[in-house]
Amino acid sequence: MIESLRMKSKYITTPIYYANDVPHIGHSSTTLFADIYARYYRLLGHEVLFTTGIDEHGQKVQESADKKQMGHQQYVDEMAIEWKEHLEAMNISYDYFVRTTNTTHKEVVSNLLSELYDAGDIYKKPYTGKYCVGCEEFKTERSLIDGKCEEHPNKEIVLIEEENYFFKITKYLDQVKELILNEQIKVVPGNKKNEMLARIDTIDSDLSISRPNVEWGIQIPWDKDHTVYVWVEALMNYYTNLIILNRKDLWPADVHIVGKGINWFHSVIWPSLLLALNKSLPKEVFAHSHLIVKGQKMSKTIGNVISPSNLLQQYGVDGTRYLLAATIPLNQDRDITIDFYKNKYHHALKNGIGNSFSRLTKLANNHDMELTLHSTFKETLDNYSDIKQHYENFEFNKVIEKTQDQLDELSQFINNQKPWLQDKNNAKITIEKSLKKLFIIVNLLQPILPETHTKIKTRLSGKIQHSEPIFK
Ligand code: MSP
Repeated sequence: MIESLRMKSKYITTPIYYANDVPHIGHSSTTLFADIYARYYRLLGHEVLFTTGIDEHGQKVQESADKKQMGHQQYVDEMAIEWKEHLEAMNISYDYFVRTTNTTHKEVVSNLLSELYDAGDIYKKPYTGKYCVGCEEFKTERSLIDGKCEEHPNKEIVLIEEENYFFKITKYLDQVKELILNEQIKVVPGNKKNEMLARIDTIDSDLSISRPNVEWGIQIPWDKDHTVYVWVEALMNYYTNLIILNRKDLWPADVHIVGKGINWFHSVIWPSLLLALNKSLPKEVFAHSHLIVKGQKMSKTIGNVISPSNLLQQYGVDGTRYLLAATIPLNQDRDITIDFYKNKYHHALKNGIGNSFSRLTKLANNHDMELTLHSTFKETLDNYSDIKQHYENFEFNKVIEKTQDQLDELSQFINNQKPWLQDKNNAKITIEKSLKKLFIIVNLLQPILPETHTKIKTRLSGKIQHSEPIFK
């Protein structure tokens, strides 16, 4: 009984985003993918805990607050409001908003660090290394391109010489490799799994887990001169959330949804820490590729950032969700353009779902038709095993392609039948059939287009009124 209940619940997470900036569509996309996945499982009757939030400590956030001459706490409090507003605007159905300045988070992190220290998995040594503040990460010489970080080519790499505490990650790497290989930790898509396996073989040093000169962080419990390396405590949010929410029964996470740039932290560092802490491991890490603009990573300095608020203004909430879901970058980075979004919106939403619905409701109204359509997402999905599979594999672009084909077929059917020229009886049959088909399509898209689904469902109940365009 308990086992079957556990099977029914899903703990789904996004990265916690650095609180030093406002979201761009890369961040919105990861959060949206998690939202679609969470909605999908809720609609199938699972209990879901879906967490997202912000990563508030560390050098990068500290420097941003200092630049604005703001108190660190005040700065992150303001950023938390902005990020939450963004989640509301995107209709993200998160259950818990993570903040790493939460008191319980800090206490539990401190206890976990003490456990690792007492078990002999942490030691201190002097260290010299090249640090990228953008990534909050020590970089190996091999990973730099012309001396610069691949992800932050506009930021200087800083040479750091200090005494750090180290976690004996090398002790656990063989075991993690084995777990990834035999899919006890599923790393998907497959090319991301291979990247991790290859990288594990290159590691021969332990992980620095403290910073002596970064004041804005959680103190190392046995040494007040150090704070915990921000990545270590950020990863621990996945555990501390459940303590805060009193839901330890949901451990371990079913899936961590992340971008490829932080796959290593989730697929290798995090499981190593958990092995050392004797805790069970996340079942899956889904690491998507990146959205890029004209071949380059979005960055403020380059000036090629696409902001979610621009898309929201142009295309509304479901329009934006649809466009981002259609461009999910799975195996490879995906170059996106404003024109792509524009064309897709016009073809699929404005002319596709929107026009078909408006035309059909007008005809139905002319014929005084009444309808009640009540099949649920789950009932509809039972007849579309391919779409079910695509949702479960995070292939939301394929869900969109398949439903687009159905929409095109529907348009063709309406154009061939010409219900506006048919006699009343035949016209009613064509219209009813078409509206039912449209409802199936909108049902299949419910996790992606929740608002549109509700609007269409409400308007297809009882006497049909001519509907205003749903997509402007
Ligand atoms: N704070 C860390 C994460 C800690 S999680 C325990 C961090 N934050 S971040 O603000 O840099 O966000 C990184 C995440 O944003 C990526 O993993 C990815 O999910 C998303 N994206 C950022 N840029 C992106 C693109 N250009 N394209 C797609 N997603 C990207 O790393």
